[in-house]
This record gives sequence, structure tokens and C-alpha cells, in this order.
Amino acid sequence: MCERPGFTVWFTGLSGAGKTAIAKPLAKALRSRGLRVERLDGDIVRQELTSDLGFTKADRDENIRRVTFVAKLLSRNGVAVICSFISPYRARRAKTRQDIEDEGAPFVEVYVHCPLEVCVARDVKGLYKRAFSGEIDNFTGVSDPYEPPENPEVVCPTAAETVDESVARVLAYLEGKGYVPS
Ligand code: ADX
Repeated sequence: MCERPGFTVWFTGLSGAGKTAIAKPLAKALRSRGLRVERLDGDIVRQELTSDLGFTKADRDENIRRVTFVAKLLSRNGVAVICSFISPYRARRAKTRQDIEDEGAPFVEVYVHCPLEVCVARDVKGLYKRAFSGEIDNFTGVSDPYEPPENPEVVCPTAAETVDESVARVLAYLEGKGYVPS
């Protein structure tokens, strides 16, 4: 038996909001506290497990469905799972929460909140430019919806705080709940 139950931390937010930027150092911090950690990230998962999928609503929901399955298996076996996906649809995120919680593992939704204008100004991958020019269809926030969480466990306002501050915010929540040793 694992000493400590696993859990899933689910980062949701626009492309370029900072999900991965927070998830990486969070994973490092959790490992340094002795937890077993796995990180699932849209940009990587979409090259492997869900490389057959695009960005229609049906495909995004299928992407999240498969990832949820993996997160469920891991978190019920003591792993701290850190997921970063736009995951724009509220109903699909609610199903994910249900699936993880049904296994007895906590689900922590983190809304990585960054105004669209800031994501566009950053345009780290150059995708917003291509979305506005019409070269890419169905781009979240531009030509596709994003449904913000209504009751996330944590909100990280990334236009107003540093990555370190966001990581500390999530860690403080996890410690407060007793999921992570202080
Ligand atoms: S999700 O909507 O299915 O959750 P996911 O997080 O896996 O999306 O992948 C999003 C990443 O795919 C973005 O960060 C971006 O790099 C890339 N991408 C390519 N096309 C699109 C698009 N039309 N909308 C959003 N992201 C896109």
C-alpha cells in the first residue's frame, strides 16, 4: 500500500496562460518532498496518446477523456498527477472530477487565469497570430469557446503574479488539505 493517496491537480486555461510554466516547477517541488509525480501535458500527450485528434469539441472531449483515464489509474495508485490542458468545456471537466473522485483520489482544479489580450501579446508559440489571420481554425479564445471554472479550488492570476507565486499558491492549497507534507 502507498503511504499517501495520490491526487490529480488539473490546470485549465487558455493557450499561453501559463499552465505548463506552473506545472513543471510544481512537479519538481512535489518530487523534492518525496512524492511520486507524473505530468500529463497537452502539447506532449497530443503527440502520442491523442495524436489522432484535432480541436473540434468532440476531439477535445475525447482528448480529455483519454487523459482522465490515465490520470485516474495513476492517482488511485498513489501518484501525484499534474495535468495541463486547455480543457475548455466545463461539463467535460466535471466528468473528469467525478471519475477521479470516484476512485477516492482528490481532484484539484486550478484555473490559470490570464486575460486573452495578455496571452495574445505573449504569443509564445506564434499560434494566436495564425489564429487571427485565419490560418488556424477553432482556436480557443479566438474562434472557439473557453468556459471558465465556476468553483475552482485554486485560481492563479498569471498576469498579476510570478510563476513562483503561482506554484506557492498551489502548494499551499495542497499542504492545507494534507495531500502534501509541509
Ligand atoms: S484541449 O482543448 O484538448 O484541452 P490541449 O491542451 O490538449 O487542448 O492542446 C492545446 C495546445 O494545442 C495549445 O497550447 C496549442 O499549442 C495547440 N493548438 C493547436 N491548435 C489549437 C487550437 N485550434 N486551439 C487551441 N490550441 C491549439
